Amino acid sequence: MKLLLIGAGGREHAIAWKLAKNEKVEKIYVAPGNGGTALENKCENINITDIDELVSFAKENDIYLTVVGPEEPLINGIVDKFKKASLKIFGPEQKAAMLEGSKSFSKEFMQKYGVKTAGYKEFYDHLKALEYLNQSEYPLVVKADGLAAGKGVSICFTKKEAEDAIYSFMVDDIFNGAGKKIIIEDFLEGIEASIISIVDGNTIVPFISAKDHKQIFDGGKGPNTGGMGVIAPNPFVTEEVLKDFNDNILIPTLTGIKEERFDYRGIIFFGIMITKRGVELLEYNVRMGDPETQSLLSLMESDLLDLIEASLENRLESFPIEWTNGTCVNVVLASKGYPGDYEKGKIITINEEVKNNVFVAGGKIQDGDLVTSGGRVLSVVGIAETPELAKKEAYNKIQSVKFEGMYYRNDIGEI
Ligand code: AMP
Ligand code: GLY
Repeated sequence: MKLLLIGAGGREHAIAWKLAKNEKVEKIYVAPGNGGTALENKCENINITDIDELVSFAKENDIYLTVVGPEEPLINGIVDKFKKASLKIFGPEQKAAMLEGSKSFSKEFMQKYGVKTAGYKEFYDHLKALEYLNQSEYPLVVKADGLAAGKGVSICFTKKEAEDAIYSFMVDDIFNGAGKKIIIEDFLEGIEASIISIVDGNTIVPFISAKDHKQIFDGGKGPNTGGMGVIAPNPFVTEEVLKDFNDNILIPTLTGIKEERFDYRGIIFFGIMITKRGVELLEYNVRMGDPETQSLLSLMESDLLDLIEASLENRLESFPIEWTNGTCVNVVLASKGYPGDYEKGKIITINEEVKNNVFVAGGKIQDGDLVTSGGRVLSVVGIAETPELAKKEAYNKIQSVKFEGMYYRNDIGEI
């Protein structure tokens, strides 16, 4: 059986690695892939990103199933196009993908179905948005409605900061249209958690919870990044938190998916805030997280292809997902200077004994070598019975990986 996987990050390397473990899988084409998928068992990178060309490729190459890693093709309707061509694909249809593609659409959905979330107002007119600031309490959060490469959220501690955000999003149009419409949301204080789940028409099954570490420096200091490391399970997600999440977020979301008749067989990722008043939803994503996936798939014992097929056939309710008992810590190795400017093209060496625990995010093959090509370069995962041991394991493994200018946080997994 031949598969097609869309995407090019560390998340996709982990998905490819996990799918390749299934004996029925003979080949995985990764479009466009990276230096990690280029070297991975059974994988071959193909340089295609256009959706229509991907449809043609899947037809011509007898692809059994297509798996989509990132949100962008989902929001652009890849699932609808594949289905129209009678091709099997895992992911939400475009309408449902707007839960990530439009903040105003997702907040409306949350309100309509009673999903617990921060209060908000929506604005098309910057003058009205500015006027609203006079009656607001600070901090507040200004969000671009559309996709803005992870930069469309501004936490504003003063009125001046909020005015600047409104001008740059709506008037200067720094996100090329994605910030012409904004929402202004109440600030939630608490601890964040990622609850990545798989969904079919009847059920949402949460994976193990995860905690991302967004800031570049130890202790949560410095600018935000795409994520510098993960601990899973998230130590703050207790049974009580899970129950609250289930009652006030998961169940109303499932009701909404059913009532709206979304064709949603894919991943739904709940970004939650654990506050003093209970759990609230920050956002939906319609894909797995990066770097959460590298930890979660390392802990997953069930076969990923079988799980995806259970979702496609609405059998999730009777598919128990099995997990390794214990904790996974994933430390991201970045290029010095990230999230600002950094150098590329540095040769990466990974000792054989850790290869199974290293995922490539920003790396490519150049003249036969694996070299750095992005800010977040690698993820190194350690699994052990306790968080402390998992952390030790991950940091020990880093000693077997090298590239010039390698930077990482030293406190991933510390509570
Ligand atoms: P979002 O894309 O909506 O999840 O926002 C990105 C990040 O901004 C989140 O992971 C939070 O760290 C932060 N954030 C978003 N909304 C809020 C909020 N209402 N209160 C506090 N922090 C927020
Ligand atoms: N690591 C957070 C995300 O993938 O959105």
